[in-house]
Amino acid sequence: MRKKNPSKASGACTALKNNHGAKRQNNRETIMFNRTLITSALPYANGPVHIGHLAGVYVPADIYARYLRLKGEEVLFIGGSDEHGVPITIKAKAEGVTPQDIVDRYHNIIKDSFAELGISFDVYGRTTSETHRKTASDFFRRLYEKGEFIEKTSEQLYDPIAKQFLADRYVVGTCPHCGNDHAYGDQCENCGTSLNATDLINPHSAITGNVPVLKETSHWYLPLDKWEPALRHWILDEHKEWKTNVYGQCKSWLDMGLQPRAVSRDLDWGIPVPVEGAEGKVLYVWFDAPIGYISNTIDCVGDDWEKWWKEKDTRMIHFIGKDNIVFHCIVFPAMLMADGSYNLPDNVPANEFLNLEDDKISTSRNWAVWLHEYLRELPNRQDELRYVLTANAPETKDNNFTWRDYQTRVNSELVAILGNFVNRAIVLTHKYFDGTLPAAGELHPVDIALIDDFKRLKSEMTDALDNFHFREASRIAMDMARAGNKYLQETEPWKVAKTDMARTATILNLAIQACANLAIAFEPILPFMSAKLLKMLGGKDITWDMLGCFDLVPAGAHIGKPELLFEKIEDNVVEEQVNKLLATKEANRLAAWTPEAVKEDVAYDDFAKVDIRVGKVLECSNVPKSKKLLEFKIDDGMGGRTILSGIAAYYKPEDLIGKEVCFIANFPPRKMMGRESFGMILSAVNADGSLTVIGPQGEVRPGATVG
Ligand code: MF3
Ligand code: ZN
Repeated sequence: MRKKNPSKASGACTALKNNHGAKRQNNRETIMFNRTLITSALPYANGPVHIGHLAGVYVPADIYARYLRLKGEEVLFIGGSDEHGVPITIKAKAEGVTPQDIVDRYHNIIKDSFAELGISFDVYGRTTSETHRKTASDFFRRLYEKGEFIEKTSEQLYDPIAKQFLADRYVVGTCPHCGNDHAYGDQCENCGTSLNATDLINPHSAITGNVPVLKETSHWYLPLDKWEPALRHWILDEHKEWKTNVYGQCKSWLDMGLQPRAVSRDLDWGIPVPVEGAEGKVLYVWFDAPIGYISNTIDCVGDDWEKWWKEKDTRMIHFIGKDNIVFHCIVFPAMLMADGSYNLPDNVPANEFLNLEDDKISTSRNWAVWLHEYLRELPNRQDELRYVLTANAPETKDNNFTWRDYQTRVNSELVAILGNFVNRAIVLTHKYFDGTLPAAGELHPVDIALIDDFKRLKSEMTDALDNFHFREASRIAMDMARAGNKYLQETEPWKVAKTDMARTATILNLAIQACANLAIAFEPILPFMSAKLLKMLGGKDITWDMLGCFDLVPAGAHIGKPELLFEKIEDNVVEEQVNKLLATKEANRLAAWTPEAVKEDVAYDDFAKVDIRVGKVLECSNVPKSKKLLEFKIDDGMGGRTILSGIAAYYKPEDLIGKEVCFIANFPPRKMMGRESFGMILSAVNADGSLTVIGPQGEVRPGATVG
């Protein structure tokens, strides 16, 4: 397959050669960009990545990178793990391992699962690397030496038992804005407000649970207020084209007025503050992490890195989730401005959040579809996930992922539209032409309509991709496949073949050209499908320019045997995933159990009136017609007695025979289901309401009193 001249058959193909440059209009001038640096938020290496991360950041970033590469543009796509910050140290403490152990584990899981999903990073680095330590330290020192920081002493929360300052997530307390009593020292996850630890009402230490005291400490601050006018102008005047959610959030931050922000912390996990007298202090994770984009560039291209960060014909695009907007649009740009030699991002197409089955995705509640588990449980279905997350991407508002919707989109779009069209085109070519592509003859209006449809859709799709409207782009690509199906429906080559092989040849030639177009249009979104389809068509080097051309596969080419591009998702697959989530819900419900309040005081003399004894179960059986009751014969050391107990739902009678139990010996006899009970067997109530019988630890003589 070659991109050369348009053939006679496709007639109007006027694809232009790309000029290796993207023009973009901003409010002041038209800049020619010659290359694009694409960054994607560095995920915290304190857990695996889930579909929320993918839909918000990595799938769109990858689509964009692949699209620009197809256009022949110079692209660098940066990823990596964010390996500092308090949550990592908390997790390490909880597991009794080192923070390095934690980040090693998750960095590898994350890196491997991204690769398997086809996220085409040019580099996937990590912020514990030596390159990063040096890059971030140098960055800090440069600003320090230029006098860009303020050093300030203030009172911070301190845990005297743990002998540690309580930064960020080390403090939990009540949010002063919404009253959530599980807000963290850096943010309230309920209302989204970012907080200072000292703002919290009733703060307590996440390490020991103690109430912290205030203690003086000194830190370096970046005076964001100094950069406020420049930021206002740069965002509010010069970047009106940014997504409204991004622009709006920036405006509201700017309108509230910016304050100096601490860029160091009293912690023992992080990059040491590289100045004298800073022992025990590290760079704040949100200071070092975005510099990770620079370090990873250095790890990828070596000395050439400055071209990607400082030359004016390079543009930078940050792909992030909405919780990262302030850091990428305000704090990091202020750092870059303070340095003075870097480009600022050209766009920050942040996405909203993806919910899962109508509930907020949460790592701590295990409410997520984890990428590494998806890849294991639904093998070879990478494109299916990429497609569903794109078609349903939370671009303008929060969105919801459900397994039913996943199944519907796969079965009725990927299988029934795209897969079906390609399969029919290839099967028919084998049936009537033994898999050798026939040449096209004269075109009918229906053929020209197909070609025009593809050209129009190409221009719409290009527009959507250029503007980061990826869900729109996926809809348009699927419309191309719809146009292909409609074409076969209208031309009916299986009927025409009975009378007119020349016309059949034209139809199938065009259908195969349409397949080649689909391999191009879908490459950014469905790279695995695209590679498989291109292999069947015998092509490999595709470019975006070729899209809309109908001479991509030459007549005489051998078309490979039809292979299914997608397989249906059966009901049982969806049910299994839904059941897995239901089990998580149940586990969370039990974990959320809190003990009942203690009853009011009772005098010892009153307690002593209750005669509790130990007994041994001699016989135990179900009471006929009762689902609840078991009937016990107990050796009570006093000749034996019968007791009825409502625990049949939780025990098999035979399992209790021979066990020692505690019972109340001085209840008056009571009738149940026509039988008499002489006492009550004691049970503990579990979180789910089930009962566990209480007995002594070790053997006790029947009839012994308890008190
Ligand atoms: N680790 C952060 C998060 O998951 C994102 C860091 S992005 C970077 O929210 F700019 F710091 F790299
Ligand atoms: Zn709140």
